Amino acid sequence: MNIAVIGTGYVGLVSGTCFADSGNHVTCVDIDREKVEQLNNGQIPIYEPGLETIFARSRREGRLHFTTDIAEAVPDADIVFLCLPTPPGGDGQADLSAVMAVAKELGPIVNSYTVIVNKSTVPVGTGDRVEKMIGEHVDPELFDVVSNPEFLREGAAVEDFKYPERVVIGTGSEQAAEIMTTLYEPFVRSGNPIIVMDRRSAELTKYAANAMLATKITFMNEIANICERVGANVDHIRRGIGTDSRIGKRFLFAGIGYGGSCFPKDVQAIHHTAGQHGYDFRIVDSVMKVNNEQKISIVKKMEDYFGTDDFSDMTFGIWGLSFKPETDDIREAPALYIADELVKRGATLRAYDPEAIGTFKQATTREVIDNTTFVHDQKDALVDINALVICTEWNEFRRPTIDGLEGWIEADDPVIFDGRNLYDLERARKAGITYISVGRPAVGTKELEPAD
Ligand SMILES: NC(=O)c1ccc[n+]([C@@H]2O[C@H](COP(=O)([O-])OP(=O)(O)OC[C@H]3O[C@@H](n4cnc5c(N)ncnc54)[C@H](O)[C@@H]3O)[C@@H](O)[C@H]2O)c1
Repeated sequence: MNIAVIGTGYVGLVSGTCFADSGNHVTCVDIDREKVEQLNNGQIPIYEPGLETIFARSRREGRLHFTTDIAEAVPDADIVFLCLPTPPGGDGQADLSAVMAVAKELGPIVNSYTVIVNKSTVPVGTGDRVEKMIGEHVDPELFDVVSNPEFLREGAAVEDFKYPERVVIGTGSEQAAEIMTTLYEPFVRSGNPIIVMDRRSAELTKYAANAMLATKITFMNEIANICERVGANVDHIRRGIGTDSRIGKRFLFAGIGYGGSCFPKDVQAIHHTAGQHGYDFRIVDSVMKVNNEQKISIVKKMEDYFGTDDFSDMTFGIWGLSFKPETDDIREAPALYIADELVKRGATLRAYDPEAIGTFKQATTREVIDNTTFVHDQKDALVDINALVICTEWNEFRRPTIDGLEGWIEADDPVIFDGRNLYDLERARKAGITYISVGRPAVGTKELEPAD
């Protein structure tokens, strides 16, 4: 098939490349000239494992192109994917300006039957608005607007796209459903379902999925907070409940809160949509409040440990800036908030991340940049610090294990505030360090051990 992908970010670039890899001809469009130029020179602007290989192969075989000109891509396309940003607007509502701007451009250039697919996460009813806008220029017989929400995870985006657990297609048109099913068949050969439903349900499915996952994480974080107060260990609770198949093992890891480009904005957006329709979605309201507090809960533990909120003469090492491992995405990353809070209290920082130093610098404040030394080796972040703060669970932080950090452990009296529960408590105890994690008993400190 001939496919146009409008918006070449995480979703657009991965989708476009994977569709090209499965034999389609794909033209990706973006308004960002620099990005398009980079892509045309064979450079990938994001970090995603596995993307480079299939990107290079599809380009070499002439199936993947990039342009800034929408009119170059759309007229020949059987399917046009909208993979445009839908960031939160001022009041939490999804900002649809990019989606609607492109819908406006599509009308005059669609000239034969085309399936217009919304892959962006959009509020219920957006498909109707896009259809209306295009319909001002195009005969209704010549196009269908479909919702096809994307469930890929950054950091595993290529794998998720190539082997989706399910594909959701929202349309009332048999013709569009058939074309979309044909397109996706190569991706579900192992039998995972392509679920066809009405467009509004498909739009809401994406929000329901993200709100459910954010709730599951937040629930576990609250259990962790209770653990810290009653002297229990959230690791045991996780195993104790995760083995119940009704609950499931995944998304039960306690930590310093969810971040990223999707959960925070999607939870806000579904809360807003519900409100617009006269419904107060109380669970997600609590989820948002708890998560905001959870992101900086580690700073409170640091204040308790040091017995002050003045960190003026202190330096902290930071391991991990991205919102999760295997990505350079720092949008809504807890590290952004933690760095900000620490610098506000007068601290200086030594920060390391394998991929996200560049993106972090672009997103953080001048004050944080001025008070941070960015280092390019994880051990360099440990030089002359008062404590290490772990914000992201990159694999390289698990190895060497805690007792493998010999030089540091011998030289100083190390204190680790671990927002991701990377290390085994017994090993920490044996290594003789002070180790404060989330929802588990503190090691090597009296102050934080729970009162009887
Ligand atoms: N990132 C994820 O993990 C993920 C997962 C599932 C769904 N989604 C959803 O997919 C959508 C896209 O997310 P993303 O992370 O890929 O966004 P992104 O910000 O990484 O990329 C969006 C791209 O669209 C381009 N763009 C903006 N306006 C444009 C226009 N008028 N014409 C052409 N290009 C334009 C931008 O330059 C950018 O390259 C969002 O709705 C998001 O919620 C994201």
